[in-house]
Order: sequence, then structure tokens, then C-alpha cells
Amino acid sequence: MSPSPVTVSCRNVWKVFGPHPQRAIEQCRAGASKARVLEETGHVVAVRDISFDVAAGEIFVVMGLSGSGKSTLIRCISRLIDPSAGQVLIDGVDVAGMNATELREVRRHKLAMVFQHFGLFPHRRVIDNVAYGLEVQGVTQAERHRRAREVLELVSLPGWENHYPQELSGGMQQRVGLARALAVDPEILLFDEPFSALDPLIRREMQDELLSLQKRLCKSLIFITHDFLEALKLGDQIAIMRDGEIVQAGRPEEIVAHPLNEYVAAFTRDAPRAKILNAASVMTPLAGAIPADENIKSAFDFAIPAEMKLEKIIPILARHDRALLVVDAAGQPVGTIDQRAVLLAVGDADQRQF
Ligand SMILES: Nc1ncnc2c1ncn2[C@@H]1O[C@H](COP(=O)(O)OP(=O)(O)OP(=O)(O)O)[C@@H](O)[C@H]1O
Ligand SMILES: [Mg+2]
Repeated sequence: MSPSPVTVSCRNVWKVFGPHPQRAIEQCRAGASKARVLEETGHVVAVRDISFDVAAGEIFVVMGLSGSGKSTLIRCISRLIDPSAGQVLIDGVDVAGMNATELREVRRHKLAMVFQHFGLFPHRRVIDNVAYGLEVQGVTQAERHRRAREVLELVSLPGWENHYPQELSGGMQQRVGLARALAVDPEILLFDEPFSALDPLIRREMQDELLSLQKRLCKSLIFITHDFLEALKLGDQIAIMRDGEIVQAGRPEEIVAHPLNEYVAAFTRDAPRAKILNAASVMTPLAGAIPADENIKSAFDFAIPAEMKLEKIIPILARHDRALLVVDAAGQPVGTIDQRAVLLAVGDADQRQF
């Protein structure tokens, strides 16, 4: 299978608020912190030298505390604001180099945004909220209403076409927000904390729905949250931001297994480790190149796949009471895993020291 095409790339993107952003960037490149630049020059370094790729079908989660630069980053991608430096490539084309017409085309057809506070038009019926993007594109009323009904069905909201947003609950309003974004069939969906105004049960329901929609739609999703558990549930990749920078990026299990610093470790503390970590993240790797040798395999009771989560491995280890062989997708032995390693990995931080 060929790899999915990259649809969004950020290349060394910076955003500095203030009259002389370039000077502030130079100061940062020379090693100055966000706090020092602010104190000395009054400039706010909101996004600092950020690079990443998002492929079609992938959910890229950006998480970090309030003020870490998440919304600024997503606004640079949609060009609601201009980056101070760097490139934002959409399907390989730098949005900074686009003229107003090209940019409008990208905004109308290629990307759509879902906001925390829904951003619905209160005086428009649900159907006309959902059809808004199509209306801007000049699609006829009959066609845009047909399409709007289709996406309302997709987000489990049929029958509400003629209501006004204030007649709907928060969760339902956010479904309308999602339907409005999906109506234009964009390749890229940008979410800025879309579920944080919802109560926990509805929020979980929306997360599940987004995951199942994404399986079918295969868009490139960039999803902002400050909830690490939400990030773990949704993200194929997670980037953790602090003071405008990405301090760690990787797959959820890599971040939980190997937080690079205390800031990241603090987020991972409440993670359901047995559900997140897989064999690959806690195994003892086999040294050197190992042939797919039946002798090695027979030395162990049986082999488990590197992707298997610890919650499934724990009962197997309990039954076998000895180390298991870990194999990659091709069946090649890549490591071994035993009960002690698993218990250390799922234990809390204090236990892990022993
Ligand atoms: N228009 C602006 N002018 C000046 N500074 C700004 C502007 N917008 C954002 N900032 C600053 O940029 C930094 C990043 O803000 P941003 O809104 O991107 O953070 P965030 O991670 O989205 O936070 P939250 O979780 O609270 O939404 C903050 O220090 C903020 O004060
Ligand atoms: Mg924000």
C-alpha cells in the first residue's frame, strides 16, 4: 500500500504579535525565551518554529495548556491570520504565496473549521446554517438543501432542519457545526476545542462519532484540545505545545511510555496506561538482526504482535507465567516481554521507579 499523501505541512511556522516580529524571531533564534522577549520588547511569541505533516485519514491532535499557542497555530493554517515566518503547505502549495482568489478557493473547498462555541448563525434555520458554505460557493438552493440533509443524517441529526440553533442542546448545536464543516466536503478539517463546552457524557458521544465518521471520510484532521485523555482517544499523532513550541510529538503510546520532560509527564499521569501502551512500547528489544527462525519462536510459548495493548497482554502473561516473544507485522521477532516489565509500565509513577 502506498503511503497516504500529506495534505497539510507546517514548515518552521512562527507567529509573533507586535510591530517588529522579525526582530523578535531573531532574538528567539539566539536563544531568548517567550518570557524574555515579552519583557524586553513587548512582543508575544505565540507560535515558535513549528513543523509537522498531516496525512489524509490521520487525526493530528495539538494539545497544551491555555496560552500555549494552539489557536494561533490553527489560525495560521487556515490563514485567518498570517504567519510571521515559515510555510503552511496545503497539498504541497504554500498558502502564504496565494493571492486573495486562490486563498478564497482553498477556504471554500479544501478546509473547514469547527469552533468551541459552535459559531452558528442564530437567525438561520439549522438547514441554512449547514448549507452556508455551499451558498457561498453559489450552489443552488435545492442542491445545497439536499446536501445539507445528507450531512445532517451523517451527524445523527435528521428531522431538525427547520429549527433554530437556540432550540437545540449544546451537543446538538455542535453536531450542526460539524455538519456545516462537512457539507463542503473539505479535505482538511480544523477543530479548535470543539467539545470543551459539552458535558462529559455528550462529549464522549461526540468523540466516538467523530472517530467513526473519520473512518468513513478519511479527511486530514487537526484537532485542538487541552484534555490529554481526549488527545489519547482521538489522536493518531499528538503534538504537545508549551510557550508556542512543540515540546514533544509522536504516537499516543510513545508519549505515554516516554515523556521527554516533566511538563509532558504531568499530562500522562492519569492516562489509562494499559489501554494505551502496546507490546512495542515496553518490550526488551532483541539485539541485532534476528532471522524468522522457528527455533526462537519455539523457545517461547507463543508470539504476540508488537501492536497488542498491555490490557490484552496482562491476562496472557498471567496464564503463561513466563516471557513472551514479540513479533512485528511481518512475523519477525523483535523483542520479549515479561510480567515485570508490564507491571512496571502500568503502575503509577512512584512504583515505576522500583
Ligand atoms: N491577537 C493577539 N494579539 C496579541 N497576542 C495574542 C493574540 N492572540 C493570541 N495572543 C497571545 O498568543 C499566545 C497564544 O494564544 P492562543 O490563543 O493561541 O493560545 P491557546 O493555546 O489557544 O490557549 P487557550 O487554550 O486558552 O485557547 C498567548 O500568549 C496570547 O496571549
Ligand atoms: Mg485557544
